[in-house]
Amino acid sequence: MAEQTGNTGQTVNPWKVQGEIVDGKLQAIDYNKLVDQFGTRLIDQPMLDRLEKLTGVRPHVFLRRGLFFSHREFNKILDLYEKGKPFYLYTGRGPSSGSMHVGHMIPFLFCKWLQDVFGAALVIQLTDDEKFIFNPDLKIDDAHKFAIENAKDIMSFGFDPKKTFIFSDLDYMSGPFYKNVIKVAKSITTNQSRATFGFNDSDNIGKLHFVSVQASPSFSNSFPHIFGTANIPCLVPCAIDQDPYFRLTREVAQKLKYHKPSLIHAKFFPALQGPGTKMSASITTSAIFINDTPNQIKNKINKYAFSGGQDTAELHRLHGGNCEVDVSFQYLKFFLEDDEELALIEKQYSSGEMSTGQLKQKCIAVVQELVKGIQEIRATVTDELVDQFMNPTIPKDASMKPCVPQVQELKIE
Ligand code: TYM
Repeated sequence: MAEQTGNTGQTVNPWKVQGEIVDGKLQAIDYNKLVDQFGTRLIDQPMLDRLEKLTGVRPHVFLRRGLFFSHREFNKILDLYEKGKPFYLYTGRGPSSGSMHVGHMIPFLFCKWLQDVFGAALVIQLTDDEKFIFNPDLKIDDAHKFAIENAKDIMSFGFDPKKTFIFSDLDYMSGPFYKNVIKVAKSITTNQSRATFGFNDSDNIGKLHFVSVQASPSFSNSFPHIFGTANIPCLVPCAIDQDPYFRLTREVAQKLKYHKPSLIHAKFFPALQGPGTKMSASITTSAIFINDTPNQIKNKINKYAFSGGQDTAELHRLHGGNCEVDVSFQYLKFFLEDDEELALIEKQYSSGEMSTGQLKQKCIAVVQELVKGIQEIRATVTDELVDQFMNPTIPKDASMKPCVPQVQELKIE
C-alpha cells in the first residue's frame, strides 16, 4: 500500500476514509476499533441465525462474509418483523459524479435484498444540495443533473417502483419533509454540528445545517404519499462513514418523539490502491464506474489493483499471497457469489498456487459481468420508469408484502 509520512490514527468520516499510518505505511481500516470508537455493535452469528429463522431466507453474501458488520438496534427491526409490524428502509447517495462507482452499489444491493426479503418500502435520498454546498466547484444545476443520472443507475439495481421512492432534495424540499428538516434544525446546536463533523468558523452555514436534511427522511411523515401521517420506524443501510449523521439523528428523534432510526453498516469497498482507503468518485484512478467499458475495467484492475502477492513469481510460489490486503481478492469477496469457489481461490492464492495475474483475471471477469448487467438494464430505463420512481404524487405500497420486481433482475443473490 502507499507510503505516507509519519504516524497517524485512522480517520473515518463522511468525507475522508483513511487507515492508520504506522512508520509511514498506510494500514487497512481497523473495523473493530471503529465499532469501539463509534459505539456501535458488531453483527454476531446469533443475530444472523435469528434473521434466517424469522425470514426463512439464508443471509445475504454481504452478511455471511461480514461485509455488513455493524449495527445500531437492528434487533428492534427484527422484533418488529416478528410481531408483524411495519418498518421501512432509507438510504441515499450524494451525486458527486454523473456515474456511480461499484463501491456505491454495496448499500443499494443490500437494500434490494432487504426489500425483497421483508417486503419493505424504501426511500432513497439524492443529496444534490449537499454536493453543491460541500463542493466549491460544483454548479447547482450540474449537481441536480448528476442526481437524475444517479437515480437511473439506482433504478437499474432492480428495485420495485411500487415500493421505492427516489428523490432529489432540490426537487422534493417542501411540505411535510421541509417541516421535519426545520424541526430537526431547531433541535441541533452549532456546537453539536461542529463537534460531530469537525466544522470550523470558515465553513459555510449550509454545511452546519445539512445534517437536518439527511436526518429527516428517517421520519416516515416526511413521505405522506407513502405513509400518510403514521410514525413508522426505519432501518438505514449505509457504509459506516455515514454513521455520524445518524448519531445526531437518533438524539434528535427522541426530542421530537419520533422513532430512532436503526442502522446497519457496511465495510468499505476498497480503492484500487488498497484497503487503507475507500473507493472514491473524486479520485478516478481509485474507482471502477458503472459506465466503464470492459476494457477500462480490465486496464484499471491490471494497472492499479493493489496486489497482496510477492515481488517475484518464484517468491510468490514459495510464500503465497495475502488475501487480506489484495484488492482483487477483496472485490471477489463482495461480488463472487459462490462460497466454495471463493474459498478455493483463497486457498490457492494464499498457498502460491494461484498467481496475481490469474487472480486479477478472475476479478476482471466478475466485475465486467456485474457492470455489463447493470449497463444492459440501465439502457432500458425510460422516462416513464423515472416518473414511477420519482413522482411524489404517485402513491406507493407501504405494506410489508414481498415485492414483485418490475424491472429486469440483476443477478446478485
Ligand atoms: P455517498 O454518495 O458518499 O455514498 C453513497 C452510499 O455508498 C456508501 N459508500 C460506500 N460503500 C462501500 N464502499 C465504498 N467505497 C463506498 N463509498 C460510499 C455510503 O456510505 C453511502 O451509503 N451523504 C450521503 C448521501 C445520503 C445517505 C443517506 C447515505 C443521504 N442520505 C442515508 C446513506 C444513508 C453521501 O454522500 O453518500
